[in-house]
Amino acid sequence: MEYKSLLLTKENGLGIVTINRPDVLNARNNELSHEMYDMFTAIENDPEIRVVILTGTGKSFIAGADIREIMELGSVQVEAFLIMARRARDRIYGCKQPVIAAINGFCLGGGLEVALCCDLRIASETATFGLPEINLGIIPAGGGIARLVKLIGMARAKEMIFTGDTCDSQAALKMGFLNQVVPSGKLMDEAKAMAARLLSKSSIALNYAKKSCNSGVDMSLAAATDMDENYFCRCFASEDQKEGMQAFVEKRKANFKNR
Ligand code: COA
Repeated sequence: MEYKSLLLTKENGLGIVTINRPDVLNARNNELSHEMYDMFTAIENDPEIRVVILTGTGKSFIAGADIREIMELGSVQVEAFLIMARRARDRIYGCKQPVIAAINGFCLGGGLEVALCCDLRIASETATFGLPEINLGIIPAGGGIARLVKLIGMARAKEMIFTGDTCDSQAALKMGFLNQVVPSGKLMDEAKAMAARLLSKSSIALNYAKKSCNSGVDMSLAAATDMDENYFCRCFASEDQKEGMQAFVEKRKANFKNR
């Protein structure tokens, strides 16, 4: 597929996906949702990519849904828009590789919802966060309610959703939305440093860890622990488990082969 609004670069096991609609601050139109779905499907099947960074061009990560595209839609067409956006988000959330959001600027509405689907969120100190949907007479419907409540708690989520107010990176860090805030000129360096740490692990164990976190959050404790035990046992079918434990007893760093 030819991509109009996404760029992909690959370096040493890392895939960097850049959202590239700078004229509209990377607002998400239907075409971008299609492209995200397609690209993350390709990434999941790409053995050269073991960790992903998702970022945006210019001064924005994603400034929300493309308001001009959806403003005149009827409820049937807008539902089709939502379904495609959801498919794209679910693809990111479910893709086996860890996905790091490197949030370079505006992270609003549907953009914040995409960031919620990433596994780790690192932001430049100048980024801006919010769910401004209420100011447009609508509500966040792409996980901005369901996922955000789980991540930061009901009280803080309701305040963001009801007021539509934006906040800066330090506030987003404090409320538990972000993993790290870094100086703006250092965003990609820091995101790549985190990616390098993940690349040094066994991708098999990381894939299971991601599946366990994402599925377990919606399960009972007993069901989630059953699942974790199952994945734990499956790790013992890998060379990486043997190498990891052998390296420990030999007091050296493990050299994982991802098999
Ligand atoms: N949808 C469509 N176009 C958007 C957009 C969006 N979500 N966000 C920004 N743009 C466009 C602007 O219309 C503008 O286009 P123009 O130059 O043709 O007028 C361009 O991107 C630059 O945006 P601008 O508003 O001039 O930049 P700014 O720095 O003054 O303000 C924002 C930045 C993010 C605060 C402001 O653009 C904004 O509030 N965007 C909408 C955010 C939103 O409500 N998202 C939720 C959507 S459901």
